[in-house]
Amino acid sequence: QELQMNLEEIEKGGYDHFMLKEIYEQPQAIKDTFRGRMLPDQGIIKMAGIDEHMNKFLNAKRIIIVACGTSWHAGLVAEYIIEELARVPVEVEYASEFRYRNPIIDKDDILIAISQSGETADTMAAIKLAKENGAFVFGVCNVVGSSISREAHAGAYTHAGPEIGVASTKAFTTQITVLTLIALQLAKKKGAISRSKFHEYLVELDSIPNKVKKALESNDLIEQIAHVYKDAKNCLYLGRGFNFPVALEGALKLKEISYIHAEGYPAAEMKHGPIALIDEQMPVVVIATRKGHYEKVVSNIQEIKSREGKIIGIVTEGDVDVRDLADHVIEVPDTLECLTPLLTTIPLQLLSYHIAIALDRNVDQPRNLAKSVTVE
Ligand code: AGP
Repeated sequence: QELQMNLEEIEKGGYDHFMLKEIYEQPQAIKDTFRGRMLPDQGIIKMAGIDEHMNKFLNAKRIIIVACGTSWHAGLVAEYIIEELARVPVEVEYASEFRYRNPIIDKDDILIAISQSGETADTMAAIKLAKENGAFVFGVCNVVGSSISREAHAGAYTHAGPEIGVASTKAFTTQITVLTLIALQLAKKKGAISRSKFHEYLVELDSIPNKVKKALESNDLIEQIAHVYKDAKNCLYLGRGFNFPVALEGALKLKEISYIHAEGYPAAEMKHGPIALIDEQMPVVVIATRKGHYEKVVSNIQEIKSREGKIIGIVTEGDVDVRDLADHVIEVPDTLECLTPLLTTIPLQLLSYHIAIALDRNVDQPRNLAKSVTVE
């Protein structure tokens, strides 16, 4: 028993919890994901799983992404990035819905299945269905040799290293990294992106690990903010564009480890319903980075403010407009709009972690949840 506990302490590498360790591992995990695949100096990406099947990708009429939970959120970010850069139509589905709804699958479709564990039963069943219908299946998994990675026709590992905390953190950012590399490679081969733009993306992606490090420096501030809101009964997360899925992910993270009810919404949907929830009791986390509909998000923040909601803004370094309106701001470094999710996610992970700790929750093993869901 004692030996077991000591081993666990060693595995946590000096951190109180696996989740916190995994949050802090992200700069390295992201680097490990693109190492050997992205060569910014030479302006190339090399990914065997994609390059060997490039014709299939180039001829695909659409890409269908299936996943569950956090991996599904990474799929939504990927939809925006692939459509933006490579101009290939993408649909994102919950694996559990896809498999049970008699979907239209064509032999020219590519199904990308995203799964940290590679063992999620619903995602596996969606893959089998797609294969029966002749689609090409590409897996994005973290666990090497997992069932999904073996069932797929081809794939790319995220190389995030073991993720022990039930709440997924580094799996999410590394999934987005792999899918961004795929989007860029497709964009290049299709001629949908200029050489200089492609190069600019590689250089910027290369700088992301250091920018994640910078974002992690807000940890103490976030811990203070967590203490202010730990007793909230509800919480809203808002984002637009590439950061809409990040809002969903922030809300999921808070729900699963603190048990506080939270919802993520595209900020513009507020006026179609959720704005009715806003009063002085409601914390609203708004992702308001400078690139990406900034003015629109600022006007959403004004709407929340005039209803006395409490605003926690996730902003770009040096921001002044949101700072004037919000109750708290947490800064992240500037980057290209497509890549902002890799940075805006970090404070949301830390916020959930510190709220859960303040409430004395079991962050690594929240109630009712398992690390991989191998049942339907
Ligand atoms: C995320 O924090 C979750 N615990 C959960 O939603 C998870 O992402 C989902 O079950 C999918 O798991 P997978 O990536 O291993 O397939």
